[in-house]
Amino acid sequence: MDTKTDQQALLRDAMRILNMTRDAFSQRLGVTRRALDSWLLPGGSPEFRSMPEVVGRFVAEILDGLPARPPRPAAGAPAISCEGKPQLLTTGQLDLDTVNEVFRIADVMEPIAKRRKVTRVLEGAVLGNLFFEASTRTRMSFGTAFCRLGGSVVDTTGFTFSSMIKGESIYDTSRVVSGYVDALVVRHPELGSVAEFARATNLPVVNAGDGPGEHPSQALLDLYTIQREFSRIGKVIDGMHIAFVGDLKYGRTVHSLSKLLALHKGLKFSFVSPASLEMPEHLLEKLSVNGHVIEQTDDLAAGVRGADVLYATRIQKERFSSEAMEGYTPDFQVNRALVDAACKPETLVMHPLPRDSRDGANDLSTDLDRDPRLAIFRQTDNGIPVRMAIFAMLLGVENQVAHAMRDVTWRTPHPVGADDAVFEGED
Ligand code: NCD
Repeated sequence: MDTKTDQQALLRDAMRILNMTRDAFSQRLGVTRRALDSWLLPGGSPEFRSMPEVVGRFVAEILDGLPARPPRPAAGAPAISCEGKPQLLTTGQLDLDTVNEVFRIADVMEPIAKRRKVTRVLEGAVLGNLFFEASTRTRMSFGTAFCRLGGSVVDTTGFTFSSMIKGESIYDTSRVVSGYVDALVVRHPELGSVAEFARATNLPVVNAGDGPGEHPSQALLDLYTIQREFSRIGKVIDGMHIAFVGDLKYGRTVHSLSKLLALHKGLKFSFVSPASLEMPEHLLEKLSVNGHVIEQTDDLAAGVRGADVLYATRIQKERFSSEAMEGYTPDFQVNRALVDAACKPETLVMHPLPRDSRDGANDLSTDLDRDPRLAIFRQTDNGIPVRMAIFAMLLGVENQVAHAMRDVTWRTPHPVGADDAVFEGED
């Protein structure tokens, strides 16, 4: 077992479960914030320090002394399940304990995602990556995550090259592919279509986006990103203010993430969009729990004022039926001037990507690209360990990974560019 990995995963898990910032946690342990930071650094970093054994025992004692948490699923039962099957279709099926477990496993996966370690726990397993809608990062990061666990991937992209163009049903497609592979990731333009795929098979299925419905793995990586960034800057999720901006009607990442956030307490949600692209009413109703405050506006500057997280989205014109775009003028763009004027110095600026970078698009501007508040590429990086954790839990190998890692054998240049350098070694 890798003690450096263990140390970081244990400390992060404890902070999450205790709902503590790094400052509060270092005080609880009776150590300096600097010492705690050095124990949380990646193993290869020059500032990294091993945590004294006595501190590790103290952390374990604190966790043992907590009120009993709900029992984990029985041995052999999937940790992520929907109607008894190992499937991730909506964030509505997750509770906070399961979310924390995904994040604990994602922390364990981190050295593999960062190309310092390799594992083969899924050796021999094959993923079917079925994408009937455009995708770059979701398709590639699911594929990469499966490969980094030692599995292999087969895929089909678009309707043109699949038998669906010949009129084959979702049921038949799902049944056929179930005879070939060990897990399925599906993206499809129709609401509810991925659940239909899932009903036709007992295999693990992940919903990678069902039209304007949901995108649960994106929500998990977004929340994982918020937690990690907040832990560094001394915030917790309870009580935070998040402003969602853009196409909230069709933005499935917003639908899934807002439901996950609603598991926490006392948040302020600001939904900022033109009237024709407002958040669906049935989702707003789901958020009216746990003391959350919900605000809707078409005034961009007022809606994002004082937010801890500004989550921008692309306008999904391809899904429009009769929506009008009036009100969505170029001054509706999320750019540096807006963030400087209306947000806080540490506001996190997020976006699920892709952003529309063509001239005249009202999307997230590139003028924030060198601003450390822009977390978009940290989000995409976090997609790998989070999707590895999802696969490991769905296929039941989550407890084997920490014991089955080896050092990489190839030369691995640091993939992070100068723009992210400010965060080098920070997490
Ligand atoms: C989005 C999606 O496809 O839902 N992107 C993603 O998966 N990261 C958002 C979009 O297409 O605008």
